Amino acid sequence: SFDYTLKPHATIPAPEGPLMVCILDGFGENEFKDAFNAVHVANTPTVDALRAVPKRFRTIKAHGTAVGLPSDADMGNSEVGHNALGSGQVVDQGARLVDIALETGKMFEGDGWKLISQAFPGNTVHFIGLLSDGGVHSRADQLVGCLRGAAARGAKRIRVHILTDGRDVPDGSSVKYVADLEAVLAQLGSEGCDAKIASGGGRMKVTMDRYEADWSMVKRGWDAHVLGKAPHTFTDAKTAIVTLRGPEDAPVSDQYVDPFVIVDEAGKPVGTIEDGDAVVLFNFRADRMVEISKAFEYAKFDTFDRERFPQGLRFVGMMQYDGDLKLPANYLVPPPEILHVSGEFLVKNGIATFAISETQKFGHVTFFWNGNRSGYLDAKQEQYLEIPSDKIEFNKAPDMKAREITEASKEAILSGKYKVIRVNFANPDMVGHTGDMAATVRACETVDACVKELIAAVDSVNGRWLVTSDHGNADDMVQRDKKGKPLMGEDGKPLPLTSHTLAPVPFFIGGKGLPDSVVLRGDVPDAGLANVAATTLNLLGYEAPAIYKPTMVENAAA
Ligand code: 3PG
Ligand code: CO
Repeated sequence: SFDYTLKPHATIPAPEGPLMVCILDGFGENEFKDAFNAVHVANTPTVDALRAVPKRFRTIKAHGTAVGLPSDADMGNSEVGHNALGSGQVVDQGARLVDIALETGKMFEGDGWKLISQAFPGNTVHFIGLLSDGGVHSRADQLVGCLRGAAARGAKRIRVHILTDGRDVPDGSSVKYVADLEAVLAQLGSEGCDAKIASGGGRMKVTMDRYEADWSMVKRGWDAHVLGKAPHTFTDAKTAIVTLRGPEDAPVSDQYVDPFVIVDEAGKPVGTIEDGDAVVLFNFRADRMVEISKAFEYAKFDTFDRERFPQGLRFVGMMQYDGDLKLPANYLVPPPEILHVSGEFLVKNGIATFAISETQKFGHVTFFWNGNRSGYLDAKQEQYLEIPSDKIEFNKAPDMKAREITEASKEAILSGKYKVIRVNFANPDMVGHTGDMAATVRACETVDACVKELIAAVDSVNGRWLVTSDHGNADDMVQRDKKGKPLMGEDGKPLPLTSHTLAPVPFFIGGKGLPDSVVLRGDVPDAGLANVAATTLNLLGYEAPAIYKPTMVENAAA
């Protein structure tokens, strides 16, 4: 069995007070320091001062292969980012594992595929998921790989239930993804497989809720996908989206498109989910698939009224989304195995931890942090606190729950009960995703003020702190051409960027309890998020395990 013993660090003494690990979600250090960089435009005296401290500020990689994604063209995201931060290792992530399973054909030999193929001759195969190539939750080319794979292996009737994006990809792009999908479905049709889009809606309105923030989203999805019920029906998906987005000068975002159902000439839904059908959730990322998985998987379920629960479904996820709950039981590709996460070292060495965020990021700083494990690693050593998020579009209240998180964190810091206090502020990310520049500037200013308070609290008890982020977002709020020039729409207004960025993220260390001689090393220029865990253990006065990416700190006096 694995040895979790932590040895005292050779040159860095243990702190008197606690260590705070603070994640400013979506707060990148972007090379474009212009009017569209909300991190740059915001008035942030706290982080500005931190940036000026020699040898205690650097940037670290937060995207692409540094966090286990297929290529360096992939922006980072909170799942892979928090996995890397918490585990100290880089593992192949869902996006990459699905690519490999499709390239090698392994997907089509697995048990999950065998299960859905039982429905190929006589029943319908349904695919539900996010239709874009954002690569955060799903990728359209992987969906197409599955669709072609099913048709080639005998599926006779396929229905796709699409969730429009506009969050990991530019708003308005859903129409193009639908056109591309329709072309594939038509081709399958010409080859003898009846394949159609059956229902859909915006990802922030339908099906893709996370962390039980708003189950009504999942109910709307169930109603549309399974029952064929929605407030709007159309005979084709493009018309559905164009109509529901509304006026071109003030459209509803792809993220918030109302649920819709596609009907035939007689007004009958073309693809309700019936007894014996197969259902594939084609997203690989877990957080926004857990709730809908429960609705499909659990015979006994009372979170909302399903009205009709199809019998004998062959239900699979692209991956297993929760390894502890074994949810879903059947899946197409085994998920990444993330072992020996830093939290396990902490609990096994009696190091008490407090972790906090608001609902929207709560699972990030617990479930993803712990290598996709739900619940406590050890309830005796840990305390997790979730502050309920507002159920609104976050540009309308860009302070979100940052003040409440700060108050509760300060209490934990001053309590003397914890050696590690882990905090995630959602604002730069969640407000950044709305594309609203002014609100995102405000989000950055709010978290800057909160960091100031937290540092003061840590200093008051001779503690140490590190402040970083999981990926960029607020640091670029405009779409750009290849040379970085902001793109303007036909109306002359800048085209908003709602997605994450490829930017590295800041990494700051300090604290009244940190000896002046403990500084950032100069010899790990390529460090990324996975180097944070070893650094954290060093700042707690322990040597890091050999399996972790190297630390970024040293005691220069030793
Ligand atoms: C989301 O799910 O909100 C976005 O697709 C990604 O954002 P996150 O990775 O920051 O959660
Ligand atoms: Co995000």
